[in-house]
Amino acid sequence: MNSPTQCQDAASRIAAAEQPLPTPVYLRKLYWWAYEHPLAVKFWDRDFLINFILLGNYDRLGNAVLEEFPQPLGGKTLQISCAYGKLTPRLQQQLGDEAQLDIIDVLQVQLDNTRRKLQQPDERITLTQCNAAMLKCADASYDRALMFFLPHELPEPVRRQALAEAFRVLKPGGQLVMVEFHRPKWWHPLRLYQRLVFMLFEPFATDMWEHELTEYFPPELQYRLDKKATYFGDLYQKLVLTKLG
Ligand SMILES: C[S@@+](CC[C@H](N)C(=O)[O-])C[C@H]1O[C@@H](n2cnc3c(N)ncnc32)[C@H](O)[C@@H]1O
Repeated sequence: MNSPTQCQDAASRIAAAEQPLPTPVYLRKLYWWAYEHPLAVKFWDRDFLINFILLGNYDRLGNAVLEEFPQPLGGKTLQISCAYGKLTPRLQQQLGDEAQLDIIDVLQVQLDNTRRKLQQPDERITLTQCNAAMLKCADASYDRALMFFLPHELPEPVRRQALAEAFRVLKPGGQLVMVEFHRPKWWHPLRLYQRLVFMLFEPFATDMWEHELTEYFPPELQYRLDKKATYFGDLYQKLVLTKLG
């Protein structure tokens, strides 16, 4: 598996930053206990905890991602930010022999953690420290990109930049697959509980209840919404989008 330094030599892949990236202010302030502290990473990266946080839907939402990808998966895929649990190891299993999977995250501790979960060595995969709002790779260089529960964690301006970047690096005809929170049905028995969780821990996430994710796309973007599916009383959504032009 390539290290970030090796990635710099691989012109067709994402470039590593010259120096370690600083932790974004919102992440340090709001999510240090979930993603940044080494003990937090050890504590949270357990399937049953992730499944609890996703109210028993972890496998279902992981399946929803993987069913959008061909089996075996070819071409170039960009995973925009790490995810706890077995999603990335499952993606590795789905990769074809010639496939490339580039994984970025702004936190090195998250990349190290993901690397530990993957079967190694695997030259098809790179893990590179990079900010989703400033991807260090050429325009139109990926066949597909994946965001798994990232936009709801980002302040709105960063969310807009990250989505613009995801589309910038996709080839025309390339697909972005996103799984995210969504406004639940009014009668959802866990609606109040989820709102409380957002109030306490994820202050930007209520945006997912009030707006469509597509509202955060660049106005000039040409895209097609191929699929919108909702899950668990609409509390979660999957969007599959194709970049046009
Ligand atoms: C994908 S989100 C949430 C995933 C979900 N809670 C899970 O683990 O299944 C969490 C990841 O996003 C990363 N992240 C947050 N802001 C980022 C940014 N601007 N650029 C890249 N990664 C970012 C965090 O470091 C963390 O690894």
